[in-house]
Amino acid sequence: MKVIQKKDYEEISRTAAERILAMVQEKPSCVLGLATGSTPIRTYEFLAMACQQRRITFEKTCSINLDEYVGLGEADPQSYRFFMETHLFRHIDIKRENTHLPDGLAADLEAECRRYDSLYAQLSGVDLQLLGIGQNGHIGFNEPGAVLDANTHVALLSENTRAANSRNFSSLSEVPHRAITLGMGGILKARHILLLASGEQKKEAVQKALYGKVDPAVPASFLQLHPDVTVLCDFALT
Ligand code: GLP
Repeated sequence: MKVIQKKDYEEISRTAAERILAMVQEKPSCVLGLATGSTPIRTYEFLAMACQQRRITFEKTCSINLDEYVGLGEADPQSYRFFMETHLFRHIDIKRENTHLPDGLAADLEAECRRYDSLYAQLSGVDLQLLGIGQNGHIGFNEPGAVLDANTHVALLSENTRAANSRNFSSLSEVPHRAITLGMGGILKARHILLLASGEQKKEAVQKALYGKVDPAVPASFLQLHPDVTVLCDFALT
């Protein structure tokens, strides 16, 4: 894995946006794997600015997101669809039908997971996957455990993750217990992976992911198996 240390969050975000813009420029019909969380917000702002200044068009671009909370629909401000609309989609010219997230309100969650896997296959691969990382080393909602799922699945969120994500809800009790997430197999199929990590609180997870054993207890450590991962962070790794 390649590590690029930047001065701060702003520079991480600017570099990530430049990489995404270069990909879209080179291949306008590329498939972007997108992530939620606070980390990619500034990157999305840079993408929106580039599109508004007509430096780029996303007209032919597709996106597929990593995950969605079970039980939250797109009208819910805490849903990841709402997040993507608010922070990116409504500010760029990507076509709504080309943007994909799991349906957190699906009546049959298993069927929704299979639908998402076949959609992923139909898109013929993600060109560039953007990732954040949880403090416990999760990516998407692939939580630490004894084993990891390769395919899209319903994940039970750890208390650590629910507590970390509760800052976006009015109380911890409102944070869903489950989410639909792409599995590690899906994430590792992307051609290029860009992992963003900002702040000392992410340092231990990144350190273990990069230099520890490949271990389901640190899901991000599976990125070591991928041939093209770039980590953009604003702290020194030892
Ligand atoms: C959530 C998302 C992850 C994200 C993580 C870290 O759990 N499912 O995709 O990487 O949060 O979020 P943040 O960037 O806010 O630290």
